[in-house]
Amino acid sequence: MSRCECAALSFQQIAALAERDGITEFELLCRKTGCASTCTACLPDLQAFLAARARTSPTTCATGSVS
Ligand code: FES
Repeated sequence: MSRCECAALSFQQIAALAERDGITEFELLCRKTGCASTCTACLPDLQAFLAARARTSPTTCATGSVS
């Protein structure tokens, strides 16, 4: 999975929004974008995507945990 179908955003778009707005908390990013919070099917893949991206770009949103 490479996009959140519920929020109609690709993971690339979600990461770009996080970087643009300086969002570093996963839960805040989900609240602002609506991603990973409706059906949650994209949640594990989005977390993995952001974690991989954070390893190469330290300013990127960390995955954190969703409680
Ligand atoms: S696909 Fe992301 S919340 Fe449904």
